[in-house]
Amino acid sequence: MPSGVSFVPVDFEADSLAMCLIQSGFDPSRAALFSWLAVTMYLTRAAIGQTLAEISGLAAGTELIADYMLLAPLRDADGNTFVELIMPVAVEHGEPWLTLLTPQDMSALLAEHGFGQAEHVRQRDQINPELWNRSDSLHPIDLSVVVRATVGGHDR
Ligand SMILES: C[S@@+](CC[C@H](N)C(=O)[O-])C[C@H]1O[C@@H](n2cnc3c(N)ncnc32)[C@H](O)[C@@H]1O
Repeated sequence: MPSGVSFVPVDFEADSLAMCLIQSGFDPSRAALFSWLAVTMYLTRAAIGQTLAEISGLAAGTELIADYMLLAPLRDADGNTFVELIMPVAVEHGEPWLTLLTPQDMSALLAEHGFGQAEHVRQRDQINPELWNRSDSLHPIDLSVVVRATVGGHDR
């Protein structure tokens, strides 16, 4: 483990992300990268919005990489099968998926909470397309989308 790593407990439904980070030594005057993967689906829309607002209030150039689960009509057959299999297990473990979104929903949430344009990237487009030419059964599915947005107008 690198010596500079800190673990900071945060409940996105109740806590201020920025305050928790700052109290633990985070410097809000410097741009940072927020990798927020596989979390939004477990949160209420309000908690996602509140967290986006906190991140968009940080230093210009701060970058957010997050993902979100697609609503059923936007998933492909494999994406729907995954949800049908996993959702009951997640509920059984007390971690239901609370928020599923369209790219338009996510762009609207980002805009409402201080971000400009966002870039949405489907799973099949997240890596070099040639790497999907495989002999095994691993293939991209339409289930979740990665979104990228930057504080202060550096969006693509
Ligand atoms: C599927 S894991 C993803 C973990 C990690 N981000 C990754 O990509 O490996 C989902 C994470 O969401 C966190 N989570 C769910 N609800 C949360 C909440 N209200 N506040 C903070 N974290 C939460 C869980 O603790 C868990 O670590």
